Amino acid sequence: MPLHKHEPKDHRDAVVAVRPQFLEPGEEIPRFRLPASGLTSESAYQVVHDELLLDGVARLNLATFVTTWMEPAAEKLMAECASKNMIDKDEYPQTAELEKRCCAMIAHMWHASDSEHPTGCSTTGSSEACMLGGLALKWRWRQRRQQAGLPGDKPNLVTGSNVQVCWEKFCRYWDVEHRQVPVGPDVTHLTAESALARCDENTIGVVAILGSTYDGVYEPVADIARALDGLAAADGPDIPIHVDAASGGFVAPFCDEDLEWDFRVPRVQSINASGHKYGLVYPGVGWIIWRDHEALPQDLVFDVEYLGGHMPTFALNFSRPGAQVVAQYFMFLRLGREGYRRIQEACCETASWIAAQVDSMEQFDLVSRDPGIPVVAFKMVGDRGYTVYDVSETLRARGWLVPAYPMPPDMQDISVLRVVVRNGLSRDLAGILVDDLKQAVERLERRGGTPAASPEDSRAGFHH
Ligand SMILES: Cc1ncc(COP(=O)(O)O)c(C=O)c1O
Repeated sequence: MPLHKHEPKDHRDAVVAVRPQFLEPGEEIPRFRLPASGLTSESAYQVVHDELLLDGVARLNLATFVTTWMEPAAEKLMAECASKNMIDKDEYPQTAELEKRCCAMIAHMWHASDSEHPTGCSTTGSSEACMLGGLALKWRWRQRRQQAGLPGDKPNLVTGSNVQVCWEKFCRYWDVEHRQVPVGPDVTHLTAESALARCDENTIGVVAILGSTYDGVYEPVADIARALDGLAAADGPDIPIHVDAASGGFVAPFCDEDLEWDFRVPRVQSINASGHKYGLVYPGVGWIIWRDHEALPQDLVFDVEYLGGHMPTFALNFSRPGAQVVAQYFMFLRLGREGYRRIQEACCETASWIAAQVDSMEQFDLVSRDPGIPVVAFKMVGDRGYTVYDVSETLRARGWLVPAYPMPPDMQDISVLRVVVRNGLSRDLAGILVDDLKQAVERLERRGGTPAASPEDSRAGFHH
């Protein structure tokens, strides 16, 4: 949630500009104060609807990983469940049952072993799931230290510097030293050697990302695990891994079945993913699964009774919408393994096609060629008199939202453009995107790097 500062004084009397037919003569709607009386439902709908006209076109938004389209039947189910509170498992036992089935399906998809009794829950998204995963790591580490009679007040967490901001938040909010391993232009992700070099007895865990937010690459979970196995075998600390599979958790099981990144790797203790990314559900639902009971310390689990019945929960929120969990179950039934595979493979094929096109343009270079989620990140080659920010702005004129941003610390002198290929960016749309990208750079080169329109450009664009 962006922090909203108190509005300046001269804004306080501002009113919402409303079409006259929706207001009584002399009536006004204050912009920053609760109106004294209400509008009719139709008028209020129209006013809000109009206000939202300038929000972007979701399908042209190539910045987000989050699902922007669901089938009408899914929308219908979500509308039917809009009033259901996920925490109220006594009143909505079947919604709770569907959550349980989803957890079981996801644990199975990530190769958890039934005999180890995997445990999991839904969350509002990966950020909450990462907080829970991180807390479990911290608790277990502290318990181990206490049992050994050692101090437990200097925990640290090892990640690449390319982690999503939720891990920076985790470390700051829960007082854990964040050991960010620098990434570089040649290797844009955490490696086994670089992770190992930062670990010590106070390391609560190593986070490996399956699908970097910056360039989509998969971090080498199995290699990192092997290095940590070696450390433990040499009487070093026994350090668990959490896999942040926010995006890759719903891609790798279908597109890279043989890649060992999940509970097949014994050192992986917990995994999170966003149901609302490649899980193909509207925001906000995430998932976290722990390999076994031990990976989730029981004193983090609360047994809530005030809603009737007993229900053990581990969550940062109390109340939370249930509709997304129902929608996740709908998607699992609707698509099955084969449906997810077809969708994610189509996204990967489209991403590879876009990557090949971009790679063939003299202006750009791909940031990484390692396998990963269907994301294409590319940077400018040489000094061309314009930047990726100018390209991003020029593409906006066609409606495309292609973000430009600096790479993580230690690579911040490199700025990139990133295209996230989601269900809905068809090969046809991808073709138009690539054409528009080519035109955007042609224009920028003609204008000497200025994105602003010139009369020559408008003449080039309109043939009457
Ligand atoms: C690797 C990674 N982790 C965590 C998150 C946070 O996920 P959410 O938006 O579901 O909270 C993201 C979001 O893009 C991500 O890419």
